[in-house]
Amino acid sequence: MNETEGSVPVGKYSIYYRLFSEPGKRVPEKGTVVCLHGGPGATHDYLLPMSDLVSCGYDVLLYDQLGCGRSSLPRNVALFTIENNVEELEVLRRKLRLGRIHLMGSSYGGLLALAYALRYQRNLRSIITEGGLASVPLASREMQRLKMQLPDAVIRTMEKYEEAGDYSNAEYLKAVEVFYRRHVCRLSVWPPELVYSMEHISSSVYNTMNGPNEFTIIGNIRYWDISDRLGEICVPTLVTGGKYDEVTPVVARQIHRGVEDSKLLIFNESSHLPMWEERERFFEKVSDFLNSL
Ligand code: ALA
Repeated sequence: MNETEGSVPVGKYSIYYRLFSEPGKRVPEKGTVVCLHGGPGATHDYLLPMSDLVSCGYDVLLYDQLGCGRSSLPRNVALFTIENNVEELEVLRRKLRLGRIHLMGSSYGGLLALAYALRYQRNLRSIITEGGLASVPLASREMQRLKMQLPDAVIRTMEKYEEAGDYSNAEYLKAVEVFYRRHVCRLSVWPPELVYSMEHISSSVYNTMNGPNEFTIIGNIRYWDISDRLGEICVPTLVTGGKYDEVTPVVARQIHRGVEDSKLLIFNESSHLPMWEERERFFEKVSDFLNSL
């Protein structure tokens, strides 16, 4: 597999990317699958399984959104918005001359893919979401429901520190970990790429856009809800998620119902990251979808 890395200037800032291709298998007409990481604030690293798609002839592009990973980290947190992430992707697509792309988004990346589609769907060949969301309020309500299903002692610990606003207390973080092991990634050993993305999450972006943790979304995306506009999206779309996903199947079904002719696939052994939790099956289903276009 060939890999090139580089950065693209977007306004005053630079956006870091990695482009994967397989020279012997590359089919130029198949185009590029651009992958959007979640968080918001994570890094591209945990999306590396997507590069498996080079074996089907696609190029695969991963990048770090503004303020994340190896891209620039501006001090002005007002720049961390969904609208800016949409425009940044558009600049990247144009500057790298990617033409019409397949757009894959994990979690917040899925939200971003749908937001991009509402503005630029003419530039898309397809959309794939993994644990993506169209409505943050719905996803938040669902996460609260999952939280209330945790063991009583864990809930009590969470509530104690949440009332005090002490989101970084070690005891609180231990309780949060219980939620993550159930609803973010259920593998007993988390892959190093995922650990890297979690450990290098940009606290500046995460706190501004998301909040202190996955199920406490109090950042600037908290009211985002484009569920009543999903009917405007006319791009072939595959909606995926895990049965135990923190962004629950209820949220996935909302996207599926809204985007006409979309396909829905819930992975029964997975939570938020079927790409890791059921890597082979995920790859098979995603490549089937892409190859059917
Ligand atoms: N915080 C969630 C994610 O992007 C929505 O991973």
